[in-house]
Amino acid sequence: MLYDNHGRKINYLRLAVTDRCNLRCQYCMPEEGINYVDRSDLLTYEEIERIIRLFGSLGIDKVRITGGEPFLRKGMMECIARINDIPEITSIHITTNGTLTRDLIPRFKDVGIKSVNLSLDSLDPERFKMITRRDDLDKVMESLMSLIEQDITTKINMVVMHAQNIDDLLPMIELTKHLPISVRFLEEMPFNGIGIHDNMALWDHKRILDFIVQSHPDIRPLVNEPNSTSINYQIPGYIGSFGIIASYSRLFCGTCNRIRLTPTGLLKTCLYDGGIFNIKQLIREGATDDNLTTALTGALGSRAKDGHEAESLRTSHLINESMATIGG
Ligand code: GTP
Ligand code: 5AD
Ligand code: SF4
Repeated sequence: MLYDNHGRKINYLRLAVTDRCNLRCQYCMPEEGINYVDRSDLLTYEEIERIIRLFGSLGIDKVRITGGEPFLRKGMMECIARINDIPEITSIHITTNGTLTRDLIPRFKDVGIKSVNLSLDSLDPERFKMITRRDDLDKVMESLMSLIEQDITTKINMVVMHAQNIDDLLPMIELTKHLPISVRFLEEMPFNGIGIHDNMALWDHKRILDFIVQSHPDIRPLVNEPNSTSINYQIPGYIGSFGIIASYSRLFCGTCNRIRLTPTGLLKTCLYDGGIFNIKQLIREGATDDNLTTALTGALGSRAKDGHEAESLRTSHLINESMATIGG
């Protein structure tokens, strides 16, 4: 079992497989995109498999594949199937923008995908286009419907942005009246390629909840899963549920069970840290599994207690990298 220096058990790896994306969400990257890393700098599928086998033997049992957009990487389904063959990995999850997935979804269960978190920031075509700078709402909705048809657990992630998609909050909740999904409202974070802007903290978890309660005074709190990022609620009579993720306020660090690998193999023990060591570099220098284990346990032995401390310890101090380079 892996534990950090604060006694938290670590069993969840978030693996970003690419920094490339076919959307240009305003909260994630500038219109012109980011300087994508060279393909030779990405962890190869062989390296990924080795790392997950090793991490599995140490106590990781949950893997989330993120990006960029994971399905832009060729051979992704085969990679997921190989991860699924690792006995210690009991659940594989995906975070995707849903634009490339419609035709893959019928095979998701076969390769071991247990649930999908779909990034969807507006149900209105014009607002979707303004936020993502692409005209792809129909494709995402087709993926959503296919996920439901295939009976795959699905959560929608909506980043709440002042003057952009506030009018989507209530329609998103209405989706949960007849659909068996969870819609989660995310506080915006400064991982956008530019950094903090004036409107960033205007919609924090409290304001989002207050806004919803004005129209739905009868919401009832649900019991949250341990290590959940979201605080969850349901409207009586609705089959789905909704949640709020205080990702910028960082309310759930106390039970954080996750580590991250970026597409280039940088290991992060917190979303807000600047990266602890590069596992791809160690592997390419010939590190043994024992060497990699020592590096990982060392990183966990001096882990920041929360996202605020991790941020304050960054050498550059400024957060402005794109979320596509981290994986969320
Ligand atoms: P599950 O709990 O496995 O459903 O997934 P998740 O909520 O951890 O994953 P997802 O990729 O859907 O992320 C949803 C939002 O939570 C994104 O905005 C993430 O950046 C944010 N998030 C995920 N993990 C962390 C974390 O460790 N710290 C912070 N501050 N935010 C996080
Ligand atoms: N702030 C909050 N959430 C973000 N995401 C991407 N960038 C940001 C940001 N700056 C979300 C995506 C995706 C999840 C992994 O992170 O919408 O659903
Ligand atoms: Fe792409 Fe996701 Fe970033 Fe949007 S949030 S630009 S979908 S990586």
